[in-house]
Amino acid sequence: MTNDEMSKLVDTSDEWIQQRTGIKQRHIAAEGELTSDLAVAAAKRALEAAELTIDGIDLVIVATTTPDMTFPATAAVVQQKLGMHHGAAFDLQAVCSGFVYAVATADSQLKNGLGKRALVIGAETSSRILDWTDRTTCVLFGDGAGAMVLELGEDGDRGVLASSLRSDGHHWSKLYTDGGPSSTMSIGHIRMEGKEVFKHAVGNITDVVRDVFDKTGTTVDDLDWFIPHQANKRIIDGAGVKLGIPPEKVVLTVDHHANTSAASVPLALSVAAEDGRIKKGDLVMLEAMGGGFTWGASLIRW
Ligand code: ACO
Repeated sequence: MTNDEMSKLVDTSDEWIQQRTGIKQRHIAAEGELTSDLAVAAAKRALEAAELTIDGIDLVIVATTTPDMTFPATAAVVQQKLGMHHGAAFDLQAVCSGFVYAVATADSQLKNGLGKRALVIGAETSSRILDWTDRTTCVLFGDGAGAMVLELGEDGDRGVLASSLRSDGHHWSKLYTDGGPSSTMSIGHIRMEGKEVFKHAVGNITDVVRDVFDKTGTTVDDLDWFIPHQANKRIIDGAGVKLGIPPEKVVLTVDHHANTSAASVPLALSVAAEDGRIKKGDLVMLEAMGGGFTWGASLIRW
């Protein structure tokens, strides 16, 4: 759905959306297409890229804010759709930071002996929780999914080198849904104080990225690719400038996908991996911030 198409639904314009956010278009899941369907499509592509079948996976984590149902976890549905009877599966809810939280969680579970490989998926149908009459939110989000296989290797130099996760629940009312099973017995819609989110975003992102650099003894100069959460080009540019990351090292997909919440980081990763930008051995920094607030970063040797 392009910005022009969006402007037929609410009082907005391509110029306003592009200037404020960098978004040109977003994808909207088809009627009847569920978060688990998007997750499965991404999972199959990731398994193919890793030259694996589902038999080689011990853990499935789906980072999502838009599960198919209140329960079971969408990860369980994904397991069923992939024909997987073994291993463990659960959802992880950290809104837009969900994928980074899931990568850090999968990494620690593998290192703690849960298994050898994890399928980490970020998948969302945020279009289902948008108020399509609220121009301050509906223009910002899109649907999508991305996935990655993490493998516990002999070679400790590759994979997740370190992560940093943070949250501060005092800010939850700045970005939330006005509904849920235990409060309204409905799903609610996204509500956001955009300026407040913006105000916290750059500082929070730079703090966790610096923390990960410190933990690993690396610096911006060592970095090959910066894969930020794709919420808004102005937030990404602001963080890039504050961290001193050259724009050519920043992967940008917000123009094509808009904010796909937990799917945004793996979608950006998949675009840069599939077009050959990210190569084996590259140092890749993932970062995200979202509702809660939650925020986090993870440094990966590809
Ligand atoms: N089209 C046209 N005009 C609009 C729209 C729209 N879609 N939305 C708001 N406006 C109007 C407002 O009504 C306001 O009009 P007024 O001055 O007559 O009152 C004017 O545009 C300016 O509105 P602001 O809210 O001040 O616009 P701002 O420059 O702050 O940009 C935005 C809004 C893009 C939401 C910005 O605050 C932002 O990017 N915040 C970060 C939010 C974000 O990225 N959230 C994603 C989830 S969290 C995360 O992933 C990090």
